[in-house]
Amino acid sequence: MRRLVIAAALALAFGPAAAQAPTPPMGWNPWNAFHTEVDEAKIMANAEALRRTGLAEAGYRYVNMDDGWWRTRRPDGRIEVRTSMFPSGALPDGSTSMRPFVDRLHALGFKAGIYTDIGRNACSQAWDRHSPNLPEGSPAAREIGTYGHQAADVALLLGEWDFDYMKVDACGLADFTPVQPWVRDGTHRAFGPWIVRGKPDAAAAARVEGLYADLRKQIDAVRPNGDVVLSICAWGEARVANWAGRYGSSWRTSPDIEPTWTSMLLNLDSAIARPLYAAPGRWNDPDMLELGHGEFDEKHLTEARAHMSLWAIAAAPLVLGADLTRMPQALIDIAGNREVIAVDQDPAGNQGVTVMRAADTQVIARTLAASGQKAVALVNRGSRPRKIRVPLARLQLAPSATVRDLWTRRERSVDGVIEVALAPRETVLLLVRGQALRPGHAYVSELPARVRVLEDGAAALSTAQAATWVPVQANAAPSGKPLTLHGDAVADGIGVLAGSRLALRLDGEFARFRSRAGATTAQAGTLGYRVIADGKTVFERSGAGPVDVDVAVAGVKTLELVTQGAPGRLTQVAWAGAELVRQAPVTE
Ligand code: GLA
Repeated sequence: MRRLVIAAALALAFGPAAAQAPTPPMGWNPWNAFHTEVDEAKIMANAEALRRTGLAEAGYRYVNMDDGWWRTRRPDGRIEVRTSMFPSGALPDGSTSMRPFVDRLHALGFKAGIYTDIGRNACSQAWDRHSPNLPEGSPAAREIGTYGHQAADVALLLGEWDFDYMKVDACGLADFTPVQPWVRDGTHRAFGPWIVRGKPDAAAAARVEGLYADLRKQIDAVRPNGDVVLSICAWGEARVANWAGRYGSSWRTSPDIEPTWTSMLLNLDSAIARPLYAAPGRWNDPDMLELGHGEFDEKHLTEARAHMSLWAIAAAPLVLGADLTRMPQALIDIAGNREVIAVDQDPAGNQGVTVMRAADTQVIARTLAASGQKAVALVNRGSRPRKIRVPLARLQLAPSATVRDLWTRRERSVDGVIEVALAPRETVLLLVRGQALRPGHAYVSELPARVRVLEDGAAALSTAQAATWVPVQANAAPSGKPLTLHGDAVADGIGVLAGSRLALRLDGEFARFRSRAGATTAQAGTLGYRVIADGKTVFERSGAGPVDVDVAVAGVKTLELVTQGAPGRLTQVAWAGAELVRQAPVTE
């Protein structure tokens, strides 16, 4: 019985089949180009542009509306469409509907996306006060968010109107506190806050999660075949990475992107530090692309290619945000580079993991589905030219490999070390094809899509730590510092906090799990370690020193790694060199 319960809990942890988003969603959204000053004609012109430019065929299939489409919530609870913005939505009987707009997109072969909020109000009502397209009427009529209206709104948006994608923001939980001017002036009702930006531990995370969980139930009730993408937009707050994958297809990991190099890197970092939270059907979202804007426009093609490369290595949703009707060809070509898109969309769904890092340079590697293949981004984050040398061994590849530059499309053989010279802010994206350095062995940190964080042990973090640490990391400690085991450097491993529980999806494909485990520093006191194979404890040890784990896992579907420290005490722990060894091939 207990085994059954555990099996059911694990099935839940690995989420519903990745039906909605087996690879990161791709599409277009008007927000970065138009904010709320968009209309049906502009959206349809961009949909046409997606077709004309070949971007639709390259995979950009969701055409989304963002904030601003609503005029008011009527006394009977139904949302009225702003028909000055969506003229097709003014029906002969005087009612309004987004269905004609959705039908037009579907007829062109696109999927259609819509925006709403998990609270009572939307972001524009707090942050776009000058917008001519804010909801109108009494405070209740301005409450166009889903709070208190979930079932009816989901039935309207996904049922009656037939949208395929829902971006659900969270400003209604964060930005309508009693002190805010738009609340004090009596136009909007006070709420919470349940989210305090930048203070994850001040958020009512469980209540925020509860709302998205309820929303998922409503979505499943209206669309039981699971064909709706839910994009959770809580900007990395409320410890969203911990729970969002259970309900949504993606979750924002950071504040809104701006078209600057600094903002792009900040958002990249928020996603790239969390590879162990993402997998097919559940993606970290560093926000939409800024190609075509500011420091990523046609005068900054190096930066534009870097931005695109980094979103691809991060397995990020690729949502264009520029006015494509005026997008220069050079930028269309960047957005449409099929080989780069193929990296983003690789079916194994392993997000890229940082394997080397210096002040201004970074190497991010992504294990692809095809055996012996890695996508590798060599990043110059700074403003001076740099050289990067990556030993093939650091990619777990044997000394001779073929390397293809996915921007120049040049291919060469490499012996031992990949060497690249980078211009300021340049990222080189390579497809590296070789042989495994140690055939049959893979570090868990190379296979992040197989990992689920069941418990992160973060309760012991201070407020300051909770804001910046990532409780479960690949090749780094939760603090973000390089990973160590009792002070000794660890190149490949998982950094966790004591109290954590990870699940590895093995699907019966491996023969052994091996690791050294221990605190990152000596003198951390006694720790406990447990390894559980399909619900059965197969390894249990406690002690002050590092322990060696070597367990047979033939036939095992799910392996859990559990660490236990002194209650309330914060201890960083390394699963050093944690690796999976494949079944030996049967030889005749
Ligand atoms: C928030 C989101 C943005 C956008 C705006 C709309 O800021 O993070 O992506 O949707 O709201 O107001």
